[in-house]
Amino acid sequence: MPRRPVAVFAIAPWAFGGVFPVDLLTRLRQLVDIDPATTFTSFDGPAAAAALAEAEILLSGWGCPRIDAGVLAAAPRLRALVHAAGTVKARLDPVVFDRGLVVSSAAEANAVPVADYTIAMLVLGAKQVFGRAARYAAAVEGTPRDWLSGEGTGLHHCTVGVIGASRVGRLVLRRLRGFDVEVLLHDPYVSAAEAAHLGAELVGMDDLCRRGDLVTVHAPALPETRHMLDARRLDLLPEGAVVINTARGSLIDTEALTRSCASGRISAVLDVTDPEPLPPGHPLLALPNVLVTPHLAGAQGRELRRLGEFAVAEVGRFLSGAPLVGRVEPEQLPYIA
Ligand SMILES: NC(=O)c1ccc[n+]([C@@H]2O[C@H](COP(=O)([O-])OP(=O)(O)OC[C@H]3O[C@@H](n4cnc5c(N)ncnc54)[C@H](O)[C@@H]3O)[C@@H](O)[C@H]2O)c1
Repeated sequence: MPRRPVAVFAIAPWAFGGVFPVDLLTRLRQLVDIDPATTFTSFDGPAAAAALAEAEILLSGWGCPRIDAGVLAAAPRLRALVHAAGTVKARLDPVVFDRGLVVSSAAEANAVPVADYTIAMLVLGAKQVFGRAARYAAAVEGTPRDWLSGEGTGLHHCTVGVIGASRVGRLVLRRLRGFDVEVLLHDPYVSAAEAAHLGAELVGMDDLCRRGDLVTVHAPALPETRHMLDARRLDLLPEGAVVINTARGSLIDTEALTRSCASGRISAVLDVTDPEPLPPGHPLLALPNVLVTPHLAGAQGRELRRLGEFAVAEVGRFLSGAPLVGRVEPEQLPYIA
């Protein structure tokens, strides 16, 4: 067998087995020389030093330590970092790019379950399922049980506002083509022509809020996206609107959202919050028209395998000189998640 490049795992043990089940490890080991029994969550100590000294490819994931100048100095042969999880940028010192390392992330694969979750919540949110189910459960004998009072609900011919044609946002846009809805998109990095190609009308944030029966947030957490849904914009939303946030809690002003939802004017589905987690007893956790889930939209359980499949395929592309699908370039860092 020809010499295989040496690779090293840096991924938390809790995620390892799900991301790299045995059959994927077998496939990976046909490409690289890697010890499947060793994964590092710290690069301190002699075992990590010995592994880094030989490593040509680092297969990272959740729990990977930050890759800084010290790590690079200990890894003189390192050529590529393949991240088998979502966002990688917080783990990268810019020196990684100065050294010419090829960086790839499986964010594309992690986006799939987030888009699926979003579509489910759009359908349920449009039907006001959460508030209506709560009223149904709380009804005492003899009171109307709400099963015919669906006025103003449902996805049919309503307007969906998508904030961010990110990897998740684009998958949501693609899935929305299967529904008879009008789609608005806000994204400063997308032209009107590209938005039309994605099946959406490009609009400003205020316009999106004024017209969106359902608004779904998919932009990255950046200084300029903090509180992009603030009190003023939440007030622009039509009565009965539903806000879905699977992106990051900081994109919405939590206090303003709490006030708007508590008034009953709008509803929300929040997979991410600010702060996260919300403190016990927070009003958002008790409102019948708000569903808060514990940051579970991204890959979990069976979905983890998709990250490993992406990473193994990416290693194959890297070794054969093919373009990487998840390549992260330094100039993208200011506007990606
Ligand atoms: N809930 C979860 O489990 C989960 C999982 C994965 C990702 N996320 C979050 O989902 C969001 C999308 O992730 P991704 O990997 O698809 O992001 P991404 O890196 O693909 O997003 C980058 C894109 O966002 C768009 N964008 C940048 N600035 C914007 C702005 N000011 N307004 C609107 N759009 C803007 C641009 O099109 C840019 O190319 C992020 O906030 C990410 O943290 C959450």
